[in-house]
Amino acid sequence: MVTYRGVVVSVLKGFQRIEGVDAHFDLSKLGIALPGFIDMHVHLRGLELSYKEDEYSGTRAAAKGGFTLVVDMPNTKPFVRDLESLRMKIEALERYSYVDYGLFIGVNIDQHQLESMLRYPAVAGIKIYPEDFEHLPQLARIVPRGTLLVVHAEHPSLISEPDTAEARGYRYAYRPIEAELLAIEELAKMFASRSDVKIHITHATSRLSVIAAKKAGFTVDTCPHYLYLTCRDEERLGCLAKVNPPLREPETNKELLNALHLVDAITTDHAPHSLEEKSLPFNECPSGIPSIEVATSLMLELVNRGFLTLTKLAYLMSMNPAKILGLDRWGCIEPGCIASYTVIDPRKEVRISSESFVSKARYSPYEGMVVRGSIEATIVRGIPAYVDEVFTELVHGIPLSEVKKLGLEAER
Ligand code: DOR
Ligand code: ZN
Repeated sequence: MVTYRGVVVSVLKGFQRIEGVDAHFDLSKLGIALPGFIDMHVHLRGLELSYKEDEYSGTRAAAKGGFTLVVDMPNTKPFVRDLESLRMKIEALERYSYVDYGLFIGVNIDQHQLESMLRYPAVAGIKIYPEDFEHLPQLARIVPRGTLLVVHAEHPSLISEPDTAEARGYRYAYRPIEAELLAIEELAKMFASRSDVKIHITHATSRLSVIAAKKAGFTVDTCPHYLYLTCRDEERLGCLAKVNPPLREPETNKELLNALHLVDAITTDHAPHSLEEKSLPFNECPSGIPSIEVATSLMLELVNRGFLTLTKLAYLMSMNPAKILGLDRWGCIEPGCIASYTVIDPRKEVRISSESFVSKARYSPYEGMVVRGSIEATIVRGIPAYVDEVFTELVHGIPLSEVKKLGLEAER
């Protein structure tokens, strides 16, 4: 394969050097080449939360995990919901992102500001949190057509926080599945007349939530921790397994595993916090599980165990997220395709060890687990970013809209 300016220009049999092109690859020598993985739900933190993670450490961790493009969440400090914080955040991403990037902005019910923010090249859409549900009626009136809304679907009226560390292992009772179902129902009602906006439910924790989202015409993702971990792990690991929505009972986890065919995407919800914060008592520590470096291996292990095929995995982790984000010419190897690929060895054993993490959050609820499936190379627009456990330092991330243009330009 030969690439020029991030796009495949020809696919060669045998290998020869051609002057004036960016890269020559024989992807098959590296492993199995899959469409470039996209994680459309990460928390890169940065700004005043850089002690937890920043745009550089988070996107290198992404490349190591096989992700060629990530989409960041707005719950930083300051919260990204006005032009000033958006500009600061974009500047940091422009400067430090190692892989391609987009970001979601927070809810702002000033129509003019909302529209201005949505026009920024890196902006992929709006993230709706439980505390934003009171603004849904206004939002349904002002949100521009074609906008992607990504929703943390837990209805605020049905969730509470335990004020005792005794709740360890039982947080699911304080934030039940019914909160997810009610949130999805309310969204469907509020946006019933807005078939021109795209609604995506993120981190669904149960088969029932997935079915409700699909019935409402939404797309939906889940995360590796809802497939691997349960309330028993929360009991065992405490803060390291504290996450929102919470880990559920083993039965729910099993049902979700068997419903993967209904899901549109896998996201990591990589949510780094400092080890000091995670060492607080259970009812005081922040929620969130960092997993971007191990998510692909965890998902490949599920392929090995027969829960899904490699093809379905490519849809969940690349093709469908690309479609949801509006990326064309993605995941193909022919002239005109955007040349981002994730190369894997589906059988190679990997021992999960947070000591090797490049994320600042160097702990993991999966510590010591041995899974089958490794990242052999992460190639971003024809440039190797991570090959054979080495960061090449050759790549610099570009915003989502620029990546989109590559596909469109190539079509002309
Ligand atoms: O567990 C979570 N952590 N859930 C969220 O919705 C936010 C995230 C974070 O930002 O830490
Ligand atoms: Zn999140």
